[in-house]
Amino acid sequence: MIKIGIIGVGTVGEAVVKNLKKNKEIIKARAGKEIKVVKGVVRDLNKKRDINIPLTTDYKEVTQDPEIDIVVELMGGVESAYKVVKDALIHKKAVVTANKALLAYHRFELQKLASTPFGYEASVAGGIPIIKALRDGLSANDIIEIKGIINGTCNYILSEMKKGRDYQEVLKEAQKLGYAEANPTFDVGGYDAAHKLLILASIAYNIDAKPEDILIEGIENINLMDIEFAKEFGYEIKLLGIAKKIDNKIELRVHPTLIKKEEMIAKVDGVMNAVSVIGDTVGETMYYGPGAGGDATASAVISDIIEIARGIKAPMLGFKLPLNKNYKLKEIDEIESKYYLRIATKDKVGVLNKITNVLAKHNISIETFLQKPKDNFAKLLFSTHKCKEKEIKKAIKEIEAFDFVLKPINYIRIEE
Ligand code: NAP
Ligand code: HSE
Repeated sequence: MIKIGIIGVGTVGEAVVKNLKKNKEIIKARAGKEIKVVKGVVRDLNKKRDINIPLTTDYKEVTQDPEIDIVVELMGGVESAYKVVKDALIHKKAVVTANKALLAYHRFELQKLASTPFGYEASVAGGIPIIKALRDGLSANDIIEIKGIINGTCNYILSEMKKGRDYQEVLKEAQKLGYAEANPTFDVGGYDAAHKLLILASIAYNIDAKPEDILIEGIENINLMDIEFAKEFGYEIKLLGIAKKIDNKIELRVHPTLIKKEEMIAKVDGVMNAVSVIGDTVGETMYYGPGAGGDATASAVISDIIEIARGIKAPMLGFKLPLNKNYKLKEIDEIESKYYLRIATKDKVGVLNKITNVLAKHNISIETFLQKPKDNFAKLLFSTHKCKEKEIKKAIKEIEAFDFVLKPINYIRIEE
């Protein structure tokens, strides 16, 4: 029998307990052993819960219990979870976690510390087995690109906004459904997707970047006008995590993105996630499934528990030896993209000319243009050809300085 302690019995923790019970016989057959949850750790012992396991508020009763084989960390947070997971590893427990924020900051330290198995399938894309796909199934490949919808909350919000629904109302709904992080700014601000992208990039390139090192933008400024523009020009707006290898440089970025509506990833709506991985040997592969929610995440957590019970131990981040390549993170300013700009201006003679002159000065060529009369302001919607991030930023700053322009100018990158 394998004995488990779960630290954090909330949305995901409860779903793990319930699904271990529901599929007890199947899981026992697959793992080769019975799996039993013997203790849970919570903050509030008086909270009403749907499960019936012994509970405590002291995590050491789990991490230091000689009877427990696997510690499952589902409490969230970064430094508090790091302390707990470190204690479990020091006490030679196998660890399973769904905590991408913890891994975004501490994955390399944890890898060094872990002499026992360490599972984190649930940390990226909820129920999609993307960690095992990338680390094991695609291990023969030099990874050229990873592109994914890896935040269920944002995808749910953007999908519902297409129906004309209000951003705040849909966010509240996503929280109720158990999709959002304890602090939903992590979701809508793009940070949660960035945490996940960094985990995938470590498996693909063994690169130890932190969230502060990469380009992260959220969906807070997307409005119905952007969605209308997207519709008019044949795009969908998705929050994407993108990792690209160009020579020895790795480009990592998370931002709302306009993608052609015919692309497979553009058709992924609601809480569903999708990740496309391009390997040099296999070509493009694509993974699709529910990206958030208790049961979807529990499916991934339990798969790690079964793998550990079976006695399989892959290197945590996929590399047994140091990678003999010196990958460097690409500077944010050097990233190249096409852009969509939404500029609100006073409706005066010569305005358009002044704006296009600034764009031309920075060598930014316009691909499409649309003017929408709205309220007291004209809304100018441009899309550009490819240019460098530093040039568009300079141009935006200069255009924002015109007294006829309403700040801030909104922009969305276009990925084609
Ligand atoms: P949650 O519903 O807020 O549950 C958190 C649980 O941890 C609660 O039981 C809470 O206790 C307990 N807890 C928090 N801080 C604690 C502390 N300092 N000491 C002891 N217990 C503590 O969160 P969740 O949605 O289940 O998410 C858990 C983890 O899974 C997070 O890392 C999250 O990022 C990750 N994740 C979530 C999803 C999802 O769809 N929800 C998907 C993938 C990954 P109380 O119950 O007493 O408050
Ligand atoms: N809050 C996360 C999301 C949970 O919405 O994708 C899954 O990691």
